[in-house]
Amino acid sequence: MLRNSLLAAGLMICAAGAAQKPIRLQPKPALVRLIDGNLRQAANQYKVLMGKIPANRMPKTYYAMQDRLETSDSKWWTSGFYPGTLFYLYEFSHDTSLLHEATKRLRLLENEQFDKGTHDLGFMMYCSFGNARRALNTKDYDDILLNSARSLSTRFNPKVGCIKSWDNNKWQYPVIIDNMMNLELLLFATHITGDSAFYRVAVSHANTTMKNHFRPDYSSFHVVNYDTATGAVLARVTAQGFADSSAWARGQAWGLYGYTMMYRGTHDPRYLMQAENIAHFILGNPNLPADKVPVWDYNAPEGQRALRDASAGAVMASALIELSRYVGPEKGKEYLDAAEQIIVTLSSSNYHAIVGSNGGFILKHSVGHLPGRSEVDVPLTYADYYFVEAMLRYKQLGEKDGSAHHVEGFQ
Ligand code: GLY
Repeated sequence: MLRNSLLAAGLMICAAGAAQKPIRLQPKPALVRLIDGNLRQAANQYKVLMGKIPANRMPKTYYAMQDRLETSDSKWWTSGFYPGTLFYLYEFSHDTSLLHEATKRLRLLENEQFDKGTHDLGFMMYCSFGNARRALNTKDYDDILLNSARSLSTRFNPKVGCIKSWDNNKWQYPVIIDNMMNLELLLFATHITGDSAFYRVAVSHANTTMKNHFRPDYSSFHVVNYDTATGAVLARVTAQGFADSSAWARGQAWGLYGYTMMYRGTHDPRYLMQAENIAHFILGNPNLPADKVPVWDYNAPEGQRALRDASAGAVMASALIELSRYVGPEKGKEYLDAAEQIIVTLSSSNYHAIVGSNGGFILKHSVGHLPGRSEVDVPLTYADYYFVEAMLRYKQLGEKDGSAHHVEGFQ
C-alpha cells in the first residue's frame, strides 16, 4: 500500500519533471577491457590485503614510508568497506576465497546494528550487509539491516529535521554533508518493511540539508551546527576541509552521490536537480584538474594543489555513472565522459598500485583528514570501495538487468 502510493507519487513527480527522456548509454568496449583487467588485479590485490589484516580488525590505510598498515575495530566509520569491496570483487570474479573472507568479516560487524552513537551506520552496515544481501541473493541479513536502520533513526530530531552526526562538546547538533550517504539504509528499510517512518526521516534529512548546507553555487559546507531546541542554524563550518568557506572535495562528492541516490529512491525531481547542480559545480570548477581527480579541497592553497583525493574521484565517478542514467542524452554523455575520465586516471600507474605493493590497497593518493594531519596522501579503504563500485556500474551500463551493484536500488 505504502509502496504503491510512494510509487504513484514518484511517477507523478517524474512525469511533471521529465524534460528529456533518459536513454541507456553504452559502455566503451576498450574501457570495459581496462576495467576487467583492473578488477582481476583488484581481486588479487585484496588477497594480499587479506593476508595482512588481524582476524579481529578491519583495514583503514597504509603508510608506505613506515611500511605500516593501519586497521580499525568495527566501530570506526570505515569498517564496512572492506567486506563490501570483497563482495563486489566476489560478484565479479566468483572467487570463493574472497567470499569466505567477506562473510567472516561480516561477523565482526554484527554488533554495530545496535550502535546508536554513530551516524555512519549506512556506510558501515549497508555497504557491507547490503552488498552481501545482493551478492548472495539472501534475506539472511535483513534483521541486522533493519536493526541498523532503527539505531540510525534514533539520531533523528524532528525539530532540526536531520540525523545528528557527531556527539561532541564542540557543536550542539552538528550535521555533516557526508551523512547524506547514510540515508540509503533508511530507504532500504522502508522498502523491505513498508514502514514509511524510515523513508520520512531520510526525506526530511535530505530536504533540510538541501536548504541549509548549500551555497548559491551549489558547493556545500561540511558541517552545519543546529540549535537542538529550535532547529535554527547556529553555524556553517568545516572539520575536514581547508576553510569554513571552502569546498572540501570529498564533501562535494558525498553530496553528489547522496542526492543521486535519493532521486533513485524517491523519484523526487528536486533531488535530481540538486545532484545536477552539484555536478555542475564540480565539473565546471576551474580548480578541477583536467584528469578530473580533484585536489583534496577545491579552494586549497597553491602549496597543497599537488594533494589529490582519489577517494573523492572514485565517489564522483560512481555517482556520475548513476546520474548519467537519469538525464537526457546530452547531459548523460557529459556525466559519463567525466566518469570515464576519472576511471582512466585512477587506472594509471600514478594511482593504481601494482599487485603486492601499497599495503594491499588498490588505489594510492587519497586524503582522509588533512586539517587533522591524518591520512594525507595515502590509500584508503573507501577509495577502493567506490572505485570498484564505479567500475562495476560502468560495466553494468550495457547489461539488461540494472538491479545489481545498487544502481537501481530498492527493487
Ligand atoms: N565521512 C568522513 C569522511 O569522508 O572522511
